[in-house]
Amino acid sequence: MYYNLLMKNFVNWAILAPGTIANSMATAMQGAISKSKTGKQIRTYAVASRSNERAKEFAARFNFKKAYGSYEELFEDSDVDAVYIANPHAFHHDSAIQALNNGKHVLCEKPAGCSVNQLQNMIFTAKKNNLFFMEAMWTAFNPTILNIIKIIKNGEIGQLKHIESRFCNRIPYDPKHRLYAPELAGGALLDLGIYNIYFAMMINDFLPIINHSSAVRMLNGVDVWNSINLTFQNNVTTSFQSAADMPAGSDTHDAIIFGTKGFITVKNFFMTEHAKLHLYKSESGNNNKITKKLDIPFMINGYEYELIHATECILAGKTDSHIHTWEKTKKLCNIMDTLRKDWSMKYAWE
Ligand SMILES: NC(=O)c1ccc[n+]([C@@H]2O[C@H](COP(=O)([O-])OP(=O)(O)OC[C@H]3O[C@@H](n4cnc5c(N)ncnc54)[C@H](OP(=O)(O)O)[C@@H]3O)[C@@H](O)[C@H]2O)c1
Repeated sequence: MYYNLLMKNFVNWAILAPGTIANSMATAMQGAISKSKTGKQIRTYAVASRSNERAKEFAARFNFKKAYGSYEELFEDSDVDAVYIANPHAFHHDSAIQALNNGKHVLCEKPAGCSVNQLQNMIFTAKKNNLFFMEAMWTAFNPTILNIIKIIKNGEIGQLKHIESRFCNRIPYDPKHRLYAPELAGGALLDLGIYNIYFAMMINDFLPIINHSSAVRMLNGVDVWNSINLTFQNNVTTSFQSAADMPAGSDTHDAIIFGTKGFITVKNFFMTEHAKLHLYKSESGNNNKITKKLDIPFMINGYEYELIHATECILAGKTDSHIHTWEKTKKLCNIMDTLRKDWSMKYAWE
């Protein structure tokens, strides 16, 4: 029934909802086409917006062949192979299900599902249609983070003990802003805190979380500030904050990974290109020296890695990524469900 992608050696990508992040992905697509090996297989084919004008403007700016003034037209176009879903979280589930049921592979912005229930439906639909589905968790492919993990695995900071990170923004309150609007699945956790959790999960090999505690400040149905402590099965602890309405006391977007021999400081941990390894100079106290610096600039803007991976998976006929797997996506979503349950925080559709 559907176009047999295995016969093709390229992927016609479409973007659904040309907002802020879609601009970054379109830039990554253009860059990947000219700069990467897989680029020859990436086609900027179509964009769909709720507004014809916006679609046309975006298509012209980023060289997409087709511009649609409704998402339905995109789903109906049999030449679309894969859809990058970039609308607010609350709509990811329905958009992904529609795309998959219309024979399109899906790369869906984070959080793919607002709950494990939603995520399971999406995965079920991908399986049923034998199509690729992946959450666009770009940090899973970040070259600096992957190098940090190698340093930790080499034992360079000794035994891993604790991870501290903050993703705190100060965005003026606007009930219609997607971070503040409960109907758009607003809140700091699903938008920002998700990165703190995933970063710690990556560093801890996705081991089970055996304990958690948290504090939250709610505003009109969404968490605008939260502080979360997790304990992984290997006894590594974490301390995170994420916020929509206030910066952190210091290092608003940074992380520190502590071990027995030293620590790693990570700049803008969720989009990092820079980290430093500090080793303690003596058995006690905090006296340390920087012994290694990681400076690994993105090939384009950081979104190219997930795009290239998704393109390669699609062309290889895979349904699940071998890097950001469905299992990892579910673990991530599950802890967010658990935390929201602790806070008695439910979205209207739950
Ligand atoms: N990976 C990352 O680094 C990253 C960064 C930012 C955001 N994100 C994720 O990407 C998604 C979109 O975030 P964004 O910052 O790009 O949002 P945004 O700028 O507000 O854009 C979202 C787009 O979704 C469409 N849309 C459909 N229904 C809507 C509704 N009821 N209200 C508002 N917009 C609606 C709109 O496009 P049309 O009306 O033109 O169709 C809008 O431009 C979120 O899930 C977020 O978590 C990821």
